[in-house]
Amino acid sequence: MLSVKEEIKQRDIVDVEMFVADKKILLLLGKTPTEQLVIKPENTLGDRGAVNNDPQNLRYNLRNMKAVDPFMATKVISRREIDEIIAAAQRLIPLMDVGGESSKEYTEIIRALSNSGGQITWVKTAKFEEFKDLHSAVKKREGGDKSGVRAIAKALSDPGGLEKFGEILAVDAFNHNFDRFDLSDNPMGKNDQLKRLWNLGNVAVCLQNNVLRPIGFDTFADSSEYRDLTKNEAPNQDWWGYLLTDGNAQKRKSICKDVADDLETALGPRNRNTILRALGASDRRLPNDAAQRLAAGMDSGALKLKTKLLSMSSPEKRPPGLQARIVALGWAVLVRGRAQPAPPPGRPSRRPGS
Ligand SMILES: Nc1ncnc2c1ncn2[C@@H]1O[C@H](COP(=O)(O)OP(=O)(O)O)[C@@H](O)[C@H]1O
Ligand SMILES: [Mg+2]
Repeated sequence: MLSVKEEIKQRDIVDVEMFVADKKILLLLGKTPTEQLVIKPENTLGDRGAVNNDPQNLRYNLRNMKAVDPFMATKVISRREIDEIIAAAQRLIPLMDVGGESSKEYTEIIRALSNSGGQITWVKTAKFEEFKDLHSAVKKREGGDKSGVRAIAKALSDPGGLEKFGEILAVDAFNHNFDRFDLSDNPMGKNDQLKRLWNLGNVAVCLQNNVLRPIGFDTFADSSEYRDLTKNEAPNQDWWGYLLTDGNAQKRKSICKDVADDLETALGPRNRNTILRALGASDRRLPNDAAQRLAAGMDSGALKLKTKLLSMSSPEKRPPGLQARIVALGWAVLVRGRAQPAPPPGRPSRRPGS
């Protein structure tokens, strides 16, 4: 069986395709139509020559997103699994005419996979069905086809849609992922019309339990200054994770207002005819309470992430930087130098030892 949960074996691979050629993203096809895995190389470059364990940083980053998005189940691929995929690609070559187009593709795939370890870490994700990203949707709209922006607007507007997108933003804040929205105090958008939206290609929806919903993919900003979890120190005040504290609820609301405006701007206005307009039909694609729904999502995303982080492993087993972040957010307190879950808000914390 080809699945994210199981180890990839050559015998389960029926075909390997170059899926997004310029990014060296591959597609593995299994024995049944539902067995499809997307294999992607992530840059794990380390930090300015220092050893900061990017493959581990990546692992925890992905795990954070899974706390709010079970459809973004992604795992790092082992060396052994890469060898299995290479073997599958090699086995597939003789089936085709050697030197032909497809044989060239397999050779490229093998070359790409051979570049692994250290600076490149390969990850596997189930293939998203009916994936639609905002960048492609806007391009299509410019060509006269509005189906993409309509589908994304509907997925966001549907019950739970904007809320889920808010949850994704909460995890982006914790991960300090700047490759979707700029959540900083001095934000920049991709162009003059956008306040915070930076990468339209990373805003996307896909089929989840038969409905289109936002997907929290592409979570690891490989040059993010705050990705390093190896040091036992609280990040400085510019870390976006601080947005998730109770005290920053107002800030989250104002960010979500910008995000809602940007999404609306990027999706573009609906063409209402004069009659509908006279009847009061809006030319907006998102509901009027979009910002509030996003903010509610950020709140619940923060809670889900906190709950998962506190339940997953004991403080001693967490990377030092992750533990420091949990404490910095007040999600755990130090008692005699050891972390314990923080008491619920409003209740006086018990003095150590009392
Ligand atoms: N699991 C997946 N299922 C389907 N398509 C995917 C999947 N992962 C990536 N893609 C495709 O690859 C493109 C780039 O993926 P992304 O994770 O954003 O890579 P990058 O970090 O290079 O931007 C996406 O826009 C999408 O078309
Ligand atoms: Mg991307």
